[in-house]
Amino acid sequence: MLDAQTIAIIKSTVPVLEVHGQTITKTFYQTMFKNHPELLNVFNHANQRQGKQPTALANAVYAAAAHIDRLEEILPVVRGIAQKHRALGIQPEHYPIVGENLLAAIKTVLGDAATEEILDAWAKAYGVIADVFISVEAEMYREAAEKKGGWRGFRRFVVDRKVKESDVITSFYLKPQDGQAIASYEPGQYLTVRVKPEGQEFTHLRHYSLSTAPGQPYYRISVKREDAVEGRPAGVVSTYLHTRIGEGDVLELSAPAGDFTLDPSSNLPLVLLSGGVGLTPMMSMLETALQSGAQREIVYIHAARSGKFHAMKEQVVELAQAHDNLRTYTVYETPEAGESSDKTGYIDLAWLKSVAAADSDFYFCGPVPFMKAVRRALKEWGVPDERIHFEFFGPADSLEDTLN
Ligand SMILES: Cc1cc2nc3c(=O)[nH]c(=O)nc-3n(C[C@H](O)[C@H](O)[C@H](O)COP(=O)(O)OP(=O)(O)OC[C@H]3O[C@@H](n4cnc5c(N)ncnc54)[C@H](O)[C@@H]3O)c2cc1C
Ligand code: HEM
Repeated sequence: MLDAQTIAIIKSTVPVLEVHGQTITKTFYQTMFKNHPELLNVFNHANQRQGKQPTALANAVYAAAAHIDRLEEILPVVRGIAQKHRALGIQPEHYPIVGENLLAAIKTVLGDAATEEILDAWAKAYGVIADVFISVEAEMYREAAEKKGGWRGFRRFVVDRKVKESDVITSFYLKPQDGQAIASYEPGQYLTVRVKPEGQEFTHLRHYSLSTAPGQPYYRISVKREDAVEGRPAGVVSTYLHTRIGEGDVLELSAPAGDFTLDPSSNLPLVLLSGGVGLTPMMSMLETALQSGAQREIVYIHAARSGKFHAMKEQVVELAQAHDNLRTYTVYETPEAGESSDKTGYIDLAWLKSVAAADSDFYFCGPVPFMKAVRRALKEWGVPDERIHFEFFGPADSLEDTLN
């Protein structure tokens, strides 16, 4: 445990570091990747370039430091991050590397203001925070490995089927190469794919939500191809999967992870909202909720740009025909000639009120503007936080920046 003086120093310097937050973390990453280029095998280069990851890590360190004497209060946040770390294969020996480089960056950016006393206090605080992460992650590694059909690290899976779902989304059905059992998962969880496309110097890791209910002899992920557009290069892994990976090819996966999961004990109506490829965890939740046999009322709302971007349409129609407790709605931003949807444009509160009840559990996932609009509408409607659940298809911390 830290002494009272160290805690006081940490608490009084958090606001100072917050001011320099992004500069410190940018400096930190530059130095760390220079000293340890092998870490470029695990960090997402696009997130680095766009500053998303530096912000996420900075905020997490300051949040942890501000709670240094009561870290148990932020354990749910730690667990969410630790899920990602476990999925990526982060190890205890990585923590001192981050610690040393973070301390060095604090020293560089603060200059004379960074006294020995302050640096010592931060070294100690980082040690305490790192130990919490390391022990939470050790437990997660153990659970993932010891679970029936589970494993540690990355396991080889063969692409059994590759199925086009829309103009931009394709599903991959994945079976283990060793022919053994696979671990079950919670609807809403994701797999992490590790690839090294030809010509790339480093491996690249990406998370993909499982897009069916658990209980199949395969895993299914559904990937949106991120094409190049003006000023933005094509996505490395999604285009590789779409263009280079076919049936019979092998992908390396870490075991299912993530804390965005359906609460099976709730009897409240369930509202699942998705925008674009954000439908993947919703499909898993939808199938699971229907298979459970509970006559829970379910509203499935999917927003897509237009019909040709509307994935898994027939599958949802069939589910609605087979289940009286399911109502489904589509929202097309710009329908093409001859296409119809339940709403045109964007989801808004007035429309939401006409199709769902406030007293429901809400789960949503999609592009940032979609998530922003949905969360704002739910807050305005007075839906309490504990019934609002969302997944962000990028570093979770950017939610706070964008959704507040
Ligand atoms: C929990 C979770 C679940 C997810 N589930 C799914 C899922 O089910 N299906 C799915 O398709 N995706 C999912 N994702 C997103 C997925 O992990 C990848 O982020 C996505 O496939 C893009 O990866 P990529 O390698 O193709 O693109 P990256 O190479 O990572 O690039 C990402 C974006 O950044 C842009 N970019 C890159 N460099 C720059 C630059 N210098 N300047 C400006 N822009 C730049 C690219 O154009 C691209 O649009 C999920 C993410 C998370 C965190
Ligand atoms: C106490 C120390 C640490 C804190 C507070 C921390 C915090 C975070 C946060 C907030 C995220 C974003 C989570 C998200 O995507 O939702 C993240 C992701 C990540 N962390 Fe950590 N982390 C720590 C240590 C480490 C270490 C030691 C490593 C390994 C060298 C590491 C590697 C990563 C990677 C690779 C990602 C994914 C980021 C990306 O590629 O976009 N982290 N971490």
